[in-house]
Amino acid sequence: MALSIRRLRDDFGAEISGVDLTRPIDDAVFAAIRDAFDEYSVLVFPDQKFDDESQIAFSRRFGPLETTISTNSGGGTHIADISNVDPKTNEIIPVDGWLSKYNSGNEMWHTDSSFKPVPALASLLSGREVPPVGAETEFASMRIAYDDLSAAEQDRLEGLVAVHDFSYSRGLVDPKLMDEKQSAAVPPVRQAVVRTNPANGRKAFYSGSHAREIVGWPVEEGRALLKDLVARAVKPERVYTHKWRQFDLVIWDNRCILHRGRPWDKSRHRRVMHRTTVAGDVPTVPDQ
Ligand code: OGA
Ligand code: MN
Repeated sequence: MALSIRRLRDDFGAEISGVDLTRPIDDAVFAAIRDAFDEYSVLVFPDQKFDDESQIAFSRRFGPLETTISTNSGGGTHIADISNVDPKTNEIIPVDGWLSKYNSGNEMWHTDSSFKPVPALASLLSGREVPPVGAETEFASMRIAYDDLSAAEQDRLEGLVAVHDFSYSRGLVDPKLMDEKQSAAVPPVRQAVVRTNPANGRKAFYSGSHAREIVGWPVEEGRALLKDLVARAVKPERVYTHKWRQFDLVIWDNRCILHRGRPWDKSRHRRVMHRTTVAGDVPTVPDQ
C-alpha cells in the first residue's frame, strides 16, 4: 500500500495514511516519512496501535532516543509518560498533586528538551486513551513565522544566543515546584535563536517557555524579545489544533515547532499519552 500524504494546512502539517508503523517498515517508506518530516514539520498518523516496544522501535529509525527526566516513568526510560493516570494503580492522579502540576507545564508553548545541551530533534506522541472533550495539542511553526519577519528583524536575530532553563519554566507554574536537587539536575543551557534545517536550508527562530533570556542583554529586554517571537508564531490563524483520536501518532520537529497541551477535565477523564523523543545530534551553538 502506498503512503498517502494530505496537507493539514497550507503552510505546515500533514496527515499520512497507508502505512502500519507498528510493524517493521522498509527503508524507502521510512525515507519518505523522514522527508515529509523535514517538509511539513508536523505529521499525523491515524490508527497506529502502538505499545511501548513498537513505538520505541519505530522512533529509533529517526536516531538515538533521549532518556526522559519524567517522574511518571511507568513505561521505562525511553518513554515520557505524560498521562493523568498512574501506571502502577491505573487510577487518575490527583488533580492538585505535584505530578499534575508538573505536567501542566506542557500547557505553555514550548519545544521539547530545549533545556538540554543538545535539544531534541523530534517527538512522537501516541494517544493511547484520549478524553472525549478538550486535551487537544496545538502546534505552531517558528519557521513560517520566521519567514514572515522583515529582513531587518531577521538580521537582528542572527547570532543571538538564548538561555533555556527548565527550572525557570516550571517555576512559572509554581515557584516551589522544583526543589534544589531537581533544579541542579537540569542546569541552564545556551541555544541559538536562529536555527537552520541542514536538509533544506530553511531557517526558524527558536524560543518557547524554557527560553529565559538573551546572553549579553538585560534580562527583561531579552525575555521580551523571546516572548514576542512566541507571540508571532502562535497567532490564532497560524495554529494547528490537533483533536486526538485514540491511536493517533503525532510527530513534530522540535527544531522549528512550538506546541502546547490544552486543558481538560482532569479529575473526570483519563488521558494516557506516551512520548518518545529523538535526540538531536549537535549543539545549536559552538560553545555549549
Ligand atoms: C509533550 C507535550 C502536550 C500534550 O508530549 O511533549 O507537550 O497535549 N504534550 O500532551
Ligand atoms: Mn512537549
